[in-house]
Amino acid sequence: MIKYLGSKRRLVPVLGGLFEASGALTALDLFTGTTRVAQEFKRLGGIVTAVDTARYAEVFARCYVAIDAEEVDRSEVAGALQHLADLPGEAGYFTDTFCESSRFFQPFNGARIDAIRTALDADFAGSPMFPILLTSLIEAADRVDSTTGQQMAYLKAWAPRSSKDLELRMPELLAGTGTAVRGDAVTLAGELGPFDIAYLDPPYNQHRYLTNYHVWETLVAWDAPEHYGVACKRIDCRDEATKSVFNRKR
Ligand SMILES: C[S@@+](CC[C@H](N)C(=O)[O-])C[C@H]1O[C@@H](n2cnc3c(N)ncnc32)[C@H](O)[C@@H]1O
Repeated sequence: MIKYLGSKRRLVPVLGGLFEASGALTALDLFTGTTRVAQEFKRLGGIVTAVDTARYAEVFARCYVAIDAEEVDRSEVAGALQHLADLPGEAGYFTDTFCESSRFFQPFNGARIDAIRTALDADFAGSPMFPILLTSLIEAADRVDSTTGQQMAYLKAWAPRSSKDLELRMPELLAGTGTAVRGDAVTLAGELGPFDIAYLDPPYNQHRYLTNYHVWETLVAWDAPEHYGVACKRIDCRDEATKSVFNRKR
């Protein structure tokens, strides 16, 4: 799983215990982020709906929450990952923007990310494997980034891990089914459900997750957006429309 501000890594066992003690079957994770909590509920037998406004969170939710591991041909996914891993690097927007104009990744890894993401659209668009492969790419990129775990800035000197080769790994899929929804919790809260249990973990300060994780948003959208500032943030990070009502200092 990616490095993510506010991710509930340490709380997961406690939340899982609460889920089990409640006897719930259906669960809602309304601000799912990495999907860590949704995954725990699913692992414990829950039928989970995972919601977030972020594009990358929807990709994670499709991979880890919606897909049933028992329906997936692991050797087919392994073959696809090998095919992508074998592609030669080809520098494009990602390398220009996040390795040359800024320094989130070393250019040799950026060129591979460019090549793999381009091939995902060319060879796997519409495939049920798409969210699995894209999750694998984001998680691989996260392991070789040069940040402190958010993308408002990058390190002045390359992080040691950024010198490692990008490595695509098979995401650990879970048995069972669930639902991935991209959208605003405020609108969706009254439309989805009912659920036996709901977990609400909204943003807790004024910083938008879109700006904190704009590189992942662009890697998913693959829309080569105009960018601004030293961190090369997507131009829509400035839009009032992308601000969450939950982005307030507490
Ligand atoms: C504190 S993080 C959740 C972390 C998550 N529980 C985890 O363990 O990874 C808050 C999440 O809320 C999402 N978010 C912000 N505003 C939202 C909104 N209006 N509707 C749905 N999701 C929203 C952000 O994209 C972010 O992923």
